[in-house]
Amino acid sequence: MTPLRLGVIGLGRAFMLMRATFLLDGRVRLTAAADPRPAAREAFLAEFGGRAHDTAEALVDDPDVEAVYIATPHQFHEAQVLAALAAGKPVLVEKPMALDLAAARRMAEAAERAGLPLIVGHSHSFDAPYLLARSLIGTPGVGRLHAITALNFTDYLYRPRRPEELDTAQGGGVVFGQAPHQVEVVRLLGGGRVRSVRAMTARPDPKRPTEGLYAAFLTFEDGAFATLTYSGMGHFDTDAWMGWGGELGQAKDPEAHGAARAALARFATPEAEAAFKETRTYGAAPLPAPEPPSRHNHFGPVIASCDHADLLPDPLGVAVHGDLERRHIAAPLRPAPRAEVIDELLAAIRDGRPPLHSARWSVATMEVVLGILASAAEGREIRMADQVGLP
Ligand SMILES: NC(=O)c1ccc[n+]([C@@H]2O[C@H](COP(=O)([O-])OP(=O)(O)OC[C@H]3O[C@@H](n4cnc5c(N)ncnc54)[C@H](O)[C@@H]3O)[C@@H](O)[C@H]2O)c1
Repeated sequence: MTPLRLGVIGLGRAFMLMRATFLLDGRVRLTAAADPRPAAREAFLAEFGGRAHDTAEALVDDPDVEAVYIATPHQFHEAQVLAALAAGKPVLVEKPMALDLAAARRMAEAAERAGLPLIVGHSHSFDAPYLLARSLIGTPGVGRLHAITALNFTDYLYRPRRPEELDTAQGGGVVFGQAPHQVEVVRLLGGGRVRSVRAMTARPDPKRPTEGLYAAFLTFEDGAFATLTYSGMGHFDTDAWMGWGGELGQAKDPEAHGAARAALARFATPEAEAAFKETRTYGAAPLPAPEPPSRHNHFGPVIASCDHADLLPDPLGVAVHGDLERRHIAAPLRPAPRAEVIDELLAAIRDGRPPLHSARWSVATMEVVLGILASAAEGREIRMADQVGLP
C-alpha cells in the first residue's frame, strides 16, 4: 500500500501531539504543510521534507496532497474544511469541529454533497482501550450497559494561553476545549444517541474568566445514563488513579504538583503569557525523535456499569470487574501512538468504509457540548435532536 499523502494546515500544539503518529506510522506521509509562521514552516521542511505553504488555500490546491489534516484554532475550521472539500480532498479536522451547531451542520452537508470523508479528531474516543471496552459491552459476562461515570481532573485552565482561549464566546474554556473528548468517549460507550443533557459549569478564577469546571448528566435514548465531571483547575490530578500515566501515554511525575500554576505566575500580562506559549510551539526549538508508545492515550477514569461487570478502560487495556472475578484485557500497543486515527482515515479514503468519527457523529457531539453550556446558562434540561448511533 502506498502511504497516504497528507497535507497539514496549522503547525501548533495539536500538530505536535500528532507528530509522533506521522513520524512513526509508515502508512501515512506528510507531503506539505501550511502555517503563517516561517519558523514552523522551516521546522516542517527539515523534519518531513515536502512543501511548505504560507496559506491554507495553497495547501489544499497542492497536487501532492491527497487528504488534508486541519489543526488550526477552532474559528478557522469551517472555512478550511469547506475549501479542502471544494478542492476534492478528504479531511481530518481537529476537535471541536466548530463553534456552533449551524457551522458543524454546514460542514457535514458539504462533505455529503462532495461525497468525501470528513473525520473529526483526534479525540480520545479513538483510543484503543475505549474501543476495546465498547466491543465488550453486550458480550456474555458483561451484558447491557446501564451507566457511565467519567471523571477528569487536570491543569487545563493553567496551561499557557492566548487571550481568546480564555473567552468562551471564542471557543475558550474547558467545555469547548475538553468536553468534546469526554462526550465522545461517553457517546462511544453509550452507543451514540443522547436524549438529554443537564449540566452546571463554574468559572472559579476571575483571572481566567471562562469555564474551569463542569458536571453533566446525560440520558441516552435506550435508558442508559452518564455522569461527566471535568476540572481544569490544576489542583487534584486524576492521573494519580491511572498509574501516573498521562493523557498522551507519557509517564508523569507525581512530584510535579502545582507546576502549571507556578509557571504561569511568572507572567504579569496576557501578552507575556501568549509570548511564552509561542516559545513552546512547533518550530520554536528542536524536538526529540519520538519513541514507540509504552501506554495508550486516555482521558481520565471512566467506569461503564453493565449487567454483570464494571468496565474500566486504562492506559494498557480494560479492567473487567465482574460478578465473581476480576480480569484485565490488554489493548495491544501499536508502533505509533494514535494509530487508530490513521486506521479510520485509511479505511474511509482507501476502502470507502464509513468512519465512526464521521461529520454527523461529530455534529451530535457538538450538540451535547453546546448543550452543556446551554443547560448551565438556562438552568434546565436540554433535549437533543441531532444524535446518531454507531455505524
Ligand atoms: N486532539 C487533541 O488532543 C488536541 C490538542 C490540542 C489542540 N487541539 C485542537 O487543535 C486546534 C488547534 O489548537 P492548538 O492548541 O494546536 O493551537 P495553536 O495555537 O497551538 O496552533 C495553531 C497553529 O495554526 C497556525 N495558524 C493560525 N491561523 C492559520 C491559518 N489561517 N492557516 C494556517 N495556519 C494557521 C498557527 O500559526 C499555529 O501554528 C484546536 O481546534 C484545538 O481544540 C486538539
